[in-house]
Amino acid sequence: MANGLTYIRRTNSVEATKQLAATLAPYVHPGDVIVLEGDLGAGKTQFTQGFAAALDIETPVTSPTFNILLSYYHGRVPLHHMDLYRLDDAAQLEDIGYYELIDGDSDGVAFVEWAEKFPESLPCDYLEVVIRRDPADENARQVRVHSFGPRSRQLLCVWAKDSKSRLQKTA
Ligand SMILES: Nc1ncnc2c1ncn2[C@@H]1O[C@H](COP(=O)(O)OP(=O)(O)OP(=O)(O)O)[C@@H](O)[C@H]1O
Ligand SMILES: [Mg+2]
Repeated sequence: MANGLTYIRRTNSVEATKQLAATLAPYVHPGDVIVLEGDLGAGKTQFTQGFAAALDIETPVTSPTFNILLSYYHGRVPLHHMDLYRLDDAAQLEDIGYYELIDGDSDGVAFVEWAEKFPESLPCDYLEVVIRRDPADENARQVRVHSFGPRSRQLLCVWAKDSKSRLQKTA
């Protein structure tokens, strides 16, 4: 956690989660990696859909749980959406081209669900978005964002300054 920034936001609906993700889209560059953490059904894919819509990706963004990797090339920046839930072994990451997509030189931005299954294979620089349910409200989520590495710190700084994101700095 050293040198990272942490911001937090509560969303009260699916649309609010998508809108928050949409406010990140203007600031991403090819090579950026967004790691999405949270339980099954937390909202990781909904977040990705809101982001994709803001990149003007018109193809419907569906969950890559079965395909593992789905790429979209027709938006402002290519989007590589991965879901590692069904992988059993880190060796399978090579088969899907994971390392090329997260090494910073990729042609697009990578969104990775269930990356925490393979902590030793996380990139050195990434933005972590943790989505938690609210036990008191089934339509509410806590979205906590933390930067790991200099590029993601810079990305989080500009995103949090966007007044529409309404991200709040936390310790
Ligand atoms: N505030 C909210 N933000 C996001 N999703 C919400 C919210 N409130 C309710 N939901 C519901 O939670 C579900 C989130 O599903 P989603 O597929 O995005 O989860 P996921 O984290 O990608 O799960 P998985 O690990 O299975 O891929 C959807 O059914 C959505 O309608
Ligand atoms: Mg999902």
